[in-house]
Amino acid sequence: MSGNRTGDAVLTGDAVPTGDAVPAGSAVLIRDVRVYGEGEPTDVLVTGGIVAAIGPDAAAGAGEDAEILDGAGQVLLPGFVDLHTHLREPGREDTETIDSGSAAAALGGYTAVFAMANTSPVADSAVVTDHVWRRGQEVGLVDVHPVGAVTVGLAGEQLAEMATMASGVGRVRMFSDDGHCVHDPLIMRRALEYSSALDVLVAQHAEEPRLTVGSVAHEGPTAARLGLTGWPRAAEESIVARDALLARDAGARVHICHASTAGTVELLKWARSQGISITAEVTPHHLLLDDSRLETYDAVNRVNPPLREASDVEALRRGLAEGVIDCVATDHAPHAEQDKCCEFAAARPGMLGLETALSIVVSTMLRPGLLDWRGVAKVMSERPAEIVGLDDQGRPIEVGEPANLVLVDPDTEWTVHGPELASVANNTPYESMTLPAKVTATVLRGRITARDGKVRPKGDR
Ligand code: DOR
Ligand code: ZN
Repeated sequence: MSGNRTGDAVLTGDAVPTGDAVPAGSAVLIRDVRVYGEGEPTDVLVTGGIVAAIGPDAAAGAGEDAEILDGAGQVLLPGFVDLHTHLREPGREDTETIDSGSAAAALGGYTAVFAMANTSPVADSAVVTDHVWRRGQEVGLVDVHPVGAVTVGLAGEQLAEMATMASGVGRVRMFSDDGHCVHDPLIMRRALEYSSALDVLVAQHAEEPRLTVGSVAHEGPTAARLGLTGWPRAAEESIVARDALLARDAGARVHICHASTAGTVELLKWARSQGISITAEVTPHHLLLDDSRLETYDAVNRVNPPLREASDVEALRRGLAEGVIDCVATDHAPHAEQDKCCEFAAARPGMLGLETALSIVVSTMLRPGLLDWRGVAKVMSERPAEIVGLDDQGRPIEVGEPANLVLVDPDTEWTVHGPELASVANNTPYESMTLPAKVTATVLRGRITARDGKVRPKGDR
């Protein structure tokens, strides 16, 4: 892997690939597009940040300076919302910044992302969470919502000041120690109790740490043969079951990050059947990849939770199709070359995801007929926005609604090359793979943030 824009970021502060392909304008007219991939192609006019008209007469309302997006052969969806992104700022700007991560998000079709708290310093105070929100707004490509830590320093011992973060400028709506499990049941119980009072969401990285000491790969025949320390399914499932019960007793909601096993899908079904308020996400990589990828010992495949077996992948796809798993979240996790191009067990876990998520969902869910485009909108936009209570995102494409939109070419293919992605880091597990479908434009509150593989230039946001 070669660091692509790291040098630029350090020397000039300009980590975002910019281009002159995105002209300015006060209105956007999307022509001949199929909304949700349904019906006849039509025109969609966006003015003042909202959807102003849909239909054959929409063009009549566009002024001369309207930006035109040619939607022929394309599908229009609500902008994607990612509940699980690691942007590494503050602290590891050598791997990702809010600037470069926002570019990756816009290019991937996202209009809102939730930036996890495992930064340095940890986002366990309003000083950090407010900074993340402000910096995201300054960059202006995507709404970067800060996730607050549940516990001080992610240490799992003392609750962070959730109320202060929730009432700050960054208005934290989601709390998570992601990267770590809130493993102490009493701390988790208190966090859930507070979350109800504050009307915020607690998202759990479900991993019983006593069961994953030294674990680097899914516990099964592949890890055994390769001599890698196994990570049992029960490490995840025992926490999912426990937290469902804690949520029930607290009368609270709990969200499960990156569900990875067939057993978790069964537990979610059971918990719902009991009326427990539990939601869950699955990552694109757990929908596509399984632990047979580890045969090469290439650490690009190391991730927490680990890639599981083909039967788990199948159950996750079915769970997402049936709504047992609510949504797709990327767990976009950039890492430096020295932390990935090394011995498998020494590598950091995590993989890039923002720019490839849609293509993986198309390949694993849409093409096999498990979801249609409405279904894709549901799992990538509507449900994530609902889960976290964003009222301006994941909205139906209707007149009067906020214009957070993504235009997708469903029939194209593209080949992934890490150094060509907008992220500073290059650790994509899809290197050299040819994937279906591509985002061709993203619109945030009526402004085009990305178009034809380029983000809107800085001076024009
Ligand atoms: O693989 C992972 N990487 N899983 C996590 O939970 C954290 C993430 C990271 O921060 O790199
Ligand atoms: Zn996690």
